[in-house]
Amino acid sequence: MTAAAVGIIGAGRMGTALARALTAAGVPTALCTARDSPESTLDHLLRHTRIVLLALPFPVALGLVSGPVGRCGGGRTLIDATNPGFCRDRMVPPGLSGGEIIAAAANGWRTVKAFNTVAADHLAATRIGGSRVTMPVAGPAEAKPAVFELAARLGFDPLDAGGIESSREMEDLAVLMARISTAYGLHGRIGIRIGELDHAPVAVNGQGAATA
Ligand SMILES: NC(=O)c1ccc[n+]([C@@H]2O[C@H](COP(=O)([O-])OP(=O)(O)OC[C@H]3O[C@@H](n4cnc5c(N)ncnc54)[C@H](OP(=O)(O)O)[C@@H]3O)[C@@H](O)[C@H]2O)c1
Repeated sequence: MTAAAVGIIGAGRMGTALARALTAAGVPTALCTARDSPESTLDHLLRHTRIVLLALPFPVALGLVSGPVGRCGGGRTLIDATNPGFCRDRMVPPGLSGGEIIAAAANGWRTVKAFNTVAADHLAATRIGGSRVTMPVAGPAEAKPAVFELAARLGFDPLDAGGIESSREMEDLAVLMARISTAYGLHGRIGIRIGELDHAPVAVNGQGAATA
């Protein structure tokens, strides 16, 4: 088996779509399920990939990193793409986030929250009105550049959202986007674009110009 740059745990819709997109973008990527035995591809992936991405339901991801897996990172980067807000049981206490809980459990890793605000079925749709879709990235500063690079390789516009505590708002954002997608019949074809406003003068009541 050759070493991959990114190892994705979870071969469901998100894991499979991300593995396909990253591979197509030229990033050597390995994919495995969380059900593998210790001698399996999961073990190989955990040992040999530079970046590991969790594409599992939040309770499964937490269960995984709460054991030896959480301690085996050696300071490598763990990307948490989970969205606990879609789980039936409330597992995240109010005021906290799945990202922070995963980061605390996976203390052998540098945990970065990312990829949770983009839809598996639309990873190729990375533009809104010609501008790249924003992907917030939260976590330790030293781990973020590599995650920025992955997001950019897929065509997204990575945005520094601060420390892992920003997972709270990022996970809420994913739920809000899903709700809006449903309301407008978008079937997940929804993204956000965050950027600096243009400083064009704005007319006020047709009486000349003023800034907004
Ligand atoms: N789908 C999206 O558009 C999207 C976007 C952003 C983030 N996410 C997040 O990504 C994560 C995965 O979502 P998904 O849509 O890919 O879900 P999914 O299609 O249901 O896939 C879930 C994966 O988790 C595995 N799994 C489930 N229960 C398990 C267990 N008890 N033990 C071991 N493995 C188990 C499944 O394995 P089996 O197939 O063997 O059951 C499957 O590989 C979630 O946290 C979700 O919120 C999803």
